[in-house]
Amino acid sequence: MLKLEKISKTYSPGTVNEKRVLNGISLDVKNGDFITIIGSNGAGKSTLFNVIAGSAAPSSGKIIFEGRDVTKTPEYIRARSMGRIFQNPLLGTSGNMSLEDNMTICRKKGFKSLKISLNDKLREQFRAELSRLNMGLENRLKDNVELLSGGQRQALTLLMTAMSRPRLVLLDEHTAALDPDNSNRVMDLTLQLREEYSLTMMMVTHNMNHAIKYGNRLLMMDAGDIIFDVSGDEKKNLTMETLMEKFRSIRKDRIADDRLLLA
Ligand SMILES: Nc1ncnc2c1ncn2[C@@H]1O[C@H](COP(=O)(O)OP(=O)(O)OP(=O)(O)O)[C@@H](O)[C@H]1O
Ligand SMILES: [Mg+2]
Repeated sequence: MLKLEKISKTYSPGTVNEKRVLNGISLDVKNGDFITIIGSNGAGKSTLFNVIAGSAAPSSGKIIFEGRDVTKTPEYIRARSMGRIFQNPLLGTSGNMSLEDNMTICRKKGFKSLKISLNDKLREQFRAELSRLNMGLENRLKDNVELLSGGQRQALTLLMTAMSRPRLVLLDEHTAALDPDNSNRVMDLTLQLREEYSLTMMMVTHNMNHAIKYGNRLLMMDAGDIIFDVSGDEKKNLTMETLMEKFRSIRKDRIADDRLLLA
């Protein structure tokens, strides 16, 4: 479904601020994959998503999506088949519009048909969709989205993303800003929607337990590289200890390298 070929990203090339953030990453994502991605701050996880979604151009390398080279395809075109959810619950929905208008837009993917298409039949569908969240939102179709709590808003964003039928969903720490209760609810919803809409997903998380528990493949990133890639039974049998050990051993090498450099 998605193939990254030697993707590199360098910010401010040729200046004193030059920074290589992705280091020639190659990756094959299969239809139906649920890939969890971990790595320390600044490892390049969000940049990788930026490059996949088209909000940042790679400095070199190729992105093939569903058999087509999309390396130069603009973000808004890619957004038709890729959904993206961020840590901040304020992104992804329009606060000063009602729930039903937000949902209509995601359904129709544009403002054009907003007025024509919003009718009682559609409202009934929205109510049914919203009631599954168990947050009482089915009775608040006319409320502005800004009145919702962070957890409710993130759940709505997730639901809307799934309703727009993307083929790939990129989740960037999408539960990190929520309290444990809401975080679990949104995670449960993520799994439900993934199942129901057969979504292929990549999920960045700082929650090691989530990274281990969910998905069929786990990637660990460090300093612009994928340094650990497990799937199948190896992923199923992965423990926190193994993961931490892996992380530590890599960090140790890095420190040794740094010492060498300094010497
Ligand atoms: N537009 C930009 N210009 C310059 N540097 C950038 C830009 N965007 C990101 N970076 C740098 O690239 C590196 C990787 O950032 P990125 O946001 O991809 O990390 P991350 O793995 O998502 O980290 P976190 O876990 O903190 O979200 C960081 O050092 C960051 O400062
Ligand atoms: Mg990030």
